[in-house]
Order: sequence, then structure tokens, then C-alpha cells
Amino acid sequence: MKLAPSSLRRSLRAVRDDESTDGGRAQAAGEEAPAVATELAGRRAGPNYVVEAYDLTKIYDNRYIALNALNLRVRKNSVYGLVGPNGAGKSTAFRLMLGLQRPTAGEIRVLGRPMGAESAELRRRIGFLPTAPAFPRHMTPISYLQFVSKIVGLPAERAKIRMTTLLQSVDLTDVASQRIEGFSTGMETRLGIAAALMNDPELLVLDEPTYGLDPPGRRQMIELIRELSGRDRTIIIATHILNDVERVCTDVGVIAQGRLIYDGAMAEMRRLARQNSITVEIEGNVASFERRIPELDEPGSVRWERVGSEVRITFLRANAVTEYLKRLLDLVERSGVELLRLDTGTHEVEEAFLRRLEEDRSRGVLRAPDWAAQEGALEPGAEEADRGGGSRSGAA
Ligand SMILES: Nc1ncnc2c1ncn2[C@@H]1O[C@H](COP(=O)(O)OP(=O)(O)O)[C@@H](O)[C@H]1O
Ligand SMILES: [Mg+2]
Repeated sequence: MKLAPSSLRRSLRAVRDDESTDGGRAQAAGEEAPAVATELAGRRAGPNYVVEAYDLTKIYDNRYIALNALNLRVRKNSVYGLVGPNGAGKSTAFRLMLGLQRPTAGEIRVLGRPMGAESAELRRRIGFLPTAPAFPRHMTPISYLQFVSKIVGLPAERAKIRMTTLLQSVDLTDVASQRIEGFSTGMETRLGIAAALMNDPELLVLDEPTYGLDPPGRRQMIELIRELSGRDRTIIIATHILNDVERVCTDVGVIAQGRLIYDGAMAEMRRLARQNSITVEIEGNVASFERRIPELDEPGSVRWERVGSEVRITFLRANAVTEYLKRLLDLVERSGVELLRLDTGTHEVEEAFLRRLEEDRSRGVLRAPDWAAQEGALEPGAEEADRGGGSRSGAA
């Protein structure tokens, strides 16, 4: 898919019916978003929030707790990343947001109103992309979008114009009259996004929009979302791959076991994550290597964690990393281990919220009881869990 960002932005602008916007979206980067998880229960947030969940709880079959008193709010015109491992409750939260299911307890408000099964009017103001959307195979993008425009009650003339523009926006013009059955996952997802945009929604909800895409497809999808966000519109993206949404989201909420364990501005999370780290994978006497890490720097300047054959060292102060690296490689030499891999500063977002959890734990706040067991469910840490070996950590 090739996207010409400026022309896409123009075409999306043309799609918009209502030009009387209030001066575009509030800029989120760098702005403090309030930490909702801990302080919100019971309070009412007001019109600046497009989605508000208060102690939202969903229990399936009287036994599976999918959402456990979730408190969350999404600021108007933000791009909100709802990030968490598989089974965390993201899709359930979306189904409640759309009024497709009833909460067991708690409250969900969308666009300032309570959302429920009977809220058809409210639902018309939302666009929804389910995970891996399924389409009637015999239809074409044109016939499918016509079908959608009838459902949302768009007049035929207007539907035609919008359809043309949207197909262009998601780069499906060339295949607009081809049967969907030959489409790739990426094409289907883009068609799903076009369908979700037919009613020009104020709120766009995307459930794992990068599902099933290869890395280039993912990047293109994020680029498309970025373009969609340049309007007076709120977007919520659920994903279990942090890297995918890190660059496009203004705000982030981390969900695990049905609870929000972190939320804030993405910029803040990046700031948290800016601390440098080095990961080395070594072979040989890892334990003896680990014992000598404190020799490398002043006490209290690094924290390290060993998972199997991997040691991740995080700098807690403004350490001279290059100097440290030299000493570290020297230690590799001296302790006779073999260096298999050396990495710096990747997976920043994951580290930031894992660190946040660790801080909470050390303060005695236990928001996600079995998080340790869940860590492995998060990419790319998933490999770590499989790799076996002991895990421990220390500070020097
Ligand atoms: N219809 C259902 N019946 C029973 N359990 C369900 C149902 N839907 C989801 N769950 C369970 O609820 C939890 C949250 O699922 P889900 O919302 O799909 O998470 P996510 O989208 O974050 O992967 C999981 O443990 C899942 O197995
Ligand atoms: Mg899901």
C-alpha cells in the first residue's frame, strides 16, 4: 500500500461533513494526563472525555472475570492505546463500550452518555473495527460499503462521494470492484477501516488493527491511523504489541487481568523509559558473571535482571554508557563467558511499565496480583518465559 500523506489528509478532510470543528485536537504530547486508575472511581469526568469507565466489571458465565473494576477515561481527540497481553480484557472493554454486551457491574459512558444495548443513536457516532473482520466473500469493496451506508442510513448521493474518498484514503481504489475473497489481511483490515468511517464517527475504535500483518503492513497501518488522527476525532486502539502503537498514540493505558495498571500520556511513558539499558546474552558461567556486575560501577547506579542466559542492565543515573560498555566487555573477557548478543535501549515502553509495576510492588501497591506470571504473555518478552531458566534481579 502506498500512501501519500498530504493528499490523504486532504481527502479525509473532504470526507468530513461537519467543518465546524473546534480547532482540531487538543495536543496531548507533553501534556499531563491524569492517572485515572487509582483516583477516578466514583467521580464524574465531564464532556472532555469521550469514554469513561467506572468500576467496569464483566464476568462471563459467573466464573471468568474479564474486567475487574476497570477505571479508565479517554480524552477527546486523543489517540489512546489500550495495551495489554492476550486475554487482558481489551475486546471485552470494547464490546461494553459499544453496548454489544452488558456489564456485570459498574458504568460505561460514551460521548457523555451512558452506553447500553438500547443506545443505537450513540452507536451511530462510533466506528468499530473488530479484530480480523470477516466480510461476505462474494462482495466487492463497493458493494460492501454501499451495504454499510444503508445500515448507517446515509443518503445514496452522499454515500457515493464518501465511498470514493474513503476507498482512496485506504488505498483500495484499484481493487474497488474486485471480489473480497482474494484480499490479503491488510486489504481486509483497510476495508474494515473504511467501513468504520462511513458514518464519519467522532470515535473510532480499532481492535488489534495490526493483527495478522507483516512488519511493513504494520507500519503502513500505523501510518494510516496517524492520518486518520489528524482530524477532530478520538481513536482508541487495542493491541498486545506496544511497539505498534508507541509512535501514533498520544495516551496509553496498560491493561492486565481486567484492570488498568498504568495510564498516562505516551510522552510521559517515553520519558519514564528514556533510561538507558543494555541487554547481554551470554553463554558459560552466567552466575559468576552476574556476581561481578557490582564491580563495574558505583553502588546504586545500575539495576540488573537476569532471565536465563540474558542479563539486562538498566542505568539509574546519568552514567557514562560508553565507558560502562567497555568495562562490561572487559568483564566478559575476564570471566570467560561467551557473548552471544548485545542490545541497547530497545523495548522501551515495556520496560517503562514493568518498572512502574515494580515500583508499585515495592511500595506495597498490588494492582495486578499475578502479573509476574503474566509477563511472559507480552511481546516480545514472551520468548523469555519460554526460554526457561531462573529469573532474578539485583541492584548495584
Ligand atoms: N464470551 C466469553 N465467554 C467466556 N469468557 C470469555 C468470553 N469472552 C472473553 N472471555 C474471557 O475474558 C478474558 C478477556 O478476554 P478478551 O476481552 O477477549 O481479552 P483481549 O481482547 O485483551 O485478548 C479472557 O480470559 C477470555 O478468555
Ligand atoms: Mg481481543
